[in-house]
Amino acid sequence: MFLGDVELSMEKLIINGGHRLEGHVKISGAKNAVLPIIAATLLGQDQPSILDEVPALEDVHTITEVLRKLGVKASFDTAGHQLHVDSTAIDSCEAPYDLVRKMRASFLIMGPLLARCGKAKISLPGGCAIGTRPIDLHLKGFEALGADIHIGHGFIEASAPEGLKGAKIYLDFPSVGATENILMAASMAEGQTVLENPAQEPEIVDLANYLNVMGAKIRGAGTNVIKIEGRPKLTGRAYTIIPDRIEAGTYMVAAAMTQGNVYIENAISEHLKPVIAKLKEAGVTIEEDIDGIRVSCSKRTKTVDIKTMPYPGFPTDMQAQFMAMMAVSEGNGLVTETVFENRFMHVDELKRMGAHIRIDGRTSMVEGVERLTGCQVKATDLRAGAAMVLAGLVADGETQVGYIHHIDRGYDNLVEKLVGLGADIRRVDQ
Ligand code: EPZ
Repeated sequence: MFLGDVELSMEKLIINGGHRLEGHVKISGAKNAVLPIIAATLLGQDQPSILDEVPALEDVHTITEVLRKLGVKASFDTAGHQLHVDSTAIDSCEAPYDLVRKMRASFLIMGPLLARCGKAKISLPGGCAIGTRPIDLHLKGFEALGADIHIGHGFIEASAPEGLKGAKIYLDFPSVGATENILMAASMAEGQTVLENPAQEPEIVDLANYLNVMGAKIRGAGTNVIKIEGRPKLTGRAYTIIPDRIEAGTYMVAAAMTQGNVYIENAISEHLKPVIAKLKEAGVTIEEDIDGIRVSCSKRTKTVDIKTMPYPGFPTDMQAQFMAMMAVSEGNGLVTETVFENRFMHVDELKRMGAHIRIDGRTSMVEGVERLTGCQVKATDLRAGAAMVLAGLVADGETQVGYIHHIDRGYDNLVEKLVGLGADIRRVDQ
């Protein structure tokens, strides 16, 4: 169904709450690692890249479609989670509005196109439900590397006809996307680039590892200074994507909220330290081993206070899910969102289910209640949608979650995985 030019889900999720989650779930490849890595395949000359553990997500299909518009040959074996990308020949450097509108992360092709072709023309990425999502830090980095930037008629054009030159760049905010775009551009710039105050997320490390396998020389990813020695050419290579720490964290919260016992295979504890610490503070039992994490909880969770911060702080992408858990925890908790300016869209939806939450600027006060009641709610954005599913798992009666295209962007096989853990959830036509 289309409302204007926005495609709305014709489907919704129906959840009957009250089932403890028990069993074993395997985490898929990380959405926020694979999207920049797919953009980085544009740098691969001489031979294709073969990416493994690629999650079957709407966003992966979207960015792959963007690459095809540039003349790239790409084929995605969704069942085998393998993406084959041949960027040996690129015949366009322009990304159209209709695809960039669908997914802001399409803007991540600006850096590789600038490095590979010396120019790029990308539709200005719009904002979204959680914020205006500016790109000033991306553009500051490109200009520091010698690119000319022109903005007009809804497009951003960048050009560097003589090629990019290494530079010293300081990021006012450790932006994940800006760090990734600058890393990809600098990987083929002449000379050394020093990036100070970069994002330190595991997905940045994964991108740097892939670029280094392609022949780049990047040191310090995951720390507060990254050094890049530009190389004249990078080559397509095989690479395996890291597991998705936010998907893992979402199932960890689901196990805790339903007072279940779930083994989450492929979860990497190192990437989840703040989430593990907060779940333990809430009274949840966490057992970590080399292959995954077991989460169990035999009683109602105690509430916690959370404050989102850039990595290694508490991840903003886990804020909505934790709020759903706090809504039914014992006690009052504070949720402070410091990364995005409008990431409390799930509050009104949780309140429809009986949650007691009061917003005061960037902080929400959550007073835990014994039970939520199922009703019709909607996914306002990806992680808010996940929070509504979690709330439905513990609510009395039936919860219907609409606009689930948001959820399909970031969770691979959510319904099948939850059914496998004993949840009563199904996807139906709206
Ligand atoms: C990435 O978005 C993730 N998306 C987001 O995940 C995640 O929430 C975010 O990083 C923070 O961790 C992908 O990786 C595809 P940012 P990104 O640039 O790169 C401001 C999800 O649910 N900023 O670190 O857009 C910006 O306004 C999604 O999986 C500038 O001011 O995040 C925001 O307040 C949601 N100027 C803050 O930085 C800029 O040029 C964080 O943005 C860029 C960003």
